[in-house]
Amino acid sequence: MSEMNAEGRTALDRMPEWNALTKHRDELGEVQLRRLFAEDPRRAEKYALTVGDLYVDYSKHLVTDETLRLLRELAAATGVAELRDAMFRGEKINTTEGRAVLHTALRAPSSAAVEVDGENVVPAVHAVLAKMRAFSDRVRSGDWKGHTGKRIRNVVNIGIGGSDLGPAMAYEALRAYTDRGLTVRFVSNVDGADLHEAVRDLDPAETLFIVASKTFTTIETITNATSARSWLLAGLGAGSEAVAKHFVALSTNAEKVADFGIDTANMFEFWDWVGGRYSYDSAIGLSLMIAIGPDRFQEMLDGFHLVDEHFRTAAPEGNVPLLMGLLGIWYGNFHDAQSHAVLPYSHYLSKFTAYLQQLDMESNGKSVDRDGRPVNWQTGPVVWGTPGTNGQHAYYQLIHQGTKLIPADLIGFARPVDDLEPGLVAQHDLLMANLFAQGQALAFGKTPEEVAAEGVAEELVPHKTFRGNRPTTTILADALTPSVLGQLIALYEHKVFVQGAVWNIDSFDQWGVELGKVLAKRVEPALTEGASVEGLDPSTSALVARYRAVRGR
Ligand code: F6P
Repeated sequence: MSEMNAEGRTALDRMPEWNALTKHRDELGEVQLRRLFAEDPRRAEKYALTVGDLYVDYSKHLVTDETLRLLRELAAATGVAELRDAMFRGEKINTTEGRAVLHTALRAPSSAAVEVDGENVVPAVHAVLAKMRAFSDRVRSGDWKGHTGKRIRNVVNIGIGGSDLGPAMAYEALRAYTDRGLTVRFVSNVDGADLHEAVRDLDPAETLFIVASKTFTTIETITNATSARSWLLAGLGAGSEAVAKHFVALSTNAEKVADFGIDTANMFEFWDWVGGRYSYDSAIGLSLMIAIGPDRFQEMLDGFHLVDEHFRTAAPEGNVPLLMGLLGIWYGNFHDAQSHAVLPYSHYLSKFTAYLQQLDMESNGKSVDRDGRPVNWQTGPVVWGTPGTNGQHAYYQLIHQGTKLIPADLIGFARPVDDLEPGLVAQHDLLMANLFAQGQALAFGKTPEEVAAEGVAEELVPHKTFRGNRPTTTILADALTPSVLGQLIALYEHKVFVQGAVWNIDSFDQWGVELGKVLAKRVEPALTEGASVEGLDPSTSALVARYRAVRGR
């Protein structure tokens, strides 16, 4: 591979800044966090940043001032700031799809101006937000009636990937702020069981379906929406005239929405410059807005915007998403870490990591650079995790004592949500004590001497020793509010951006999911009785034969 690409950019692993980090890593050897903290009593204070309501402690990382300086130099050399500015300006940085990347415009104030192809997109964003607000208010107040005149009490979002994970995650996260009189459910899987379980106890006359699909061609969503329409019409004993009061669409594709039979007056629009996994603060958030109300939704958008502005303007030394992205690069590219754990100490964030999986892994799961050349360096990590303390009783063993280095984010809130009963509020200290204790144990471990001093039998000492030096970032906020949720998501969006920029990959396409979609369409006809299995590979055709035998076909 030549040293430079078409634009004259040196290949990442040939850059002097990259080589300086490789050398630095060798010189540092095995970093001892106990030693680093002993040498610098101000380390905790020095390695902490605040953005909005988020306090970010990164002192328990295997880094020194020199490491951070070299990482920032890598960011400068790879043009992270220039690409960031191009993104905010509306340039078409998603080169393989020829699209701008403007989720930041979705939360920009109405006074902002961001141009795509010479047109300011901000007024259109605010027009859709106003339409969403008016509709949400009508549903929430009972003014929007179903076909039989009953008010809507159930909202079912049908979508998948970015048209599901964002609103589903945020609905869980902000449950304490939702209208508890409304039942809100999310259907994504083409497994009919998903829709069945979502609607089986609902009254169709009181149910609104929100069909969320950027393209309106996604087979899972269109299939589920078609089945939902049949369920509705059968339940109401009505014809297709009932659809208008029970189906709305969130999409960029008005033609397909109309083809499906949804009145485009009931369509909430967004644009091709909003990536699916970056879309939940667009019209895709309608189910969430209905659940929490327009004011709370706006607070969330403001939280996003706050971090956008921080990312855009803060100096590299204090730029939190930049720092988080670079720390990931330090472990993934210079310590062979393969994965990254996100461990929220909040039951409400039960879907947070699943949401981040799409955000991070669909964005940065790439192995060719922007020019289509194979990359010679590791790109996006496997992102995983579930809420603490549950994870502690499942897989933390491996993080503490396994052979793999797993950097982790610990996320917690100083205050529990407001409407917990006093007895349950008291449990919050225990929850947070666990978060703090895990960060401590992972970083500082327990030496053989300390174990032996407890009178542990000699042969058990190695088993009870913790090496420590497991890096964590702790993100602590006062409370899980809509604004804080927006701040957190924007933080991760921009972290992913930083990493993609350094790795020189297109973080905004997702060609890797296309092949499976195409093949599924090809395999499906082979599942029916008497159909030909020609063209299938031997393994797949044996599986299909067995499936058909079980189904008596
Ligand atoms: O999984 C591929 C993908 O294209 C995602 O990027 C997207 O979020 C999802 O499918 C759903 O797409 P759509 O909103 O067009 O139905």
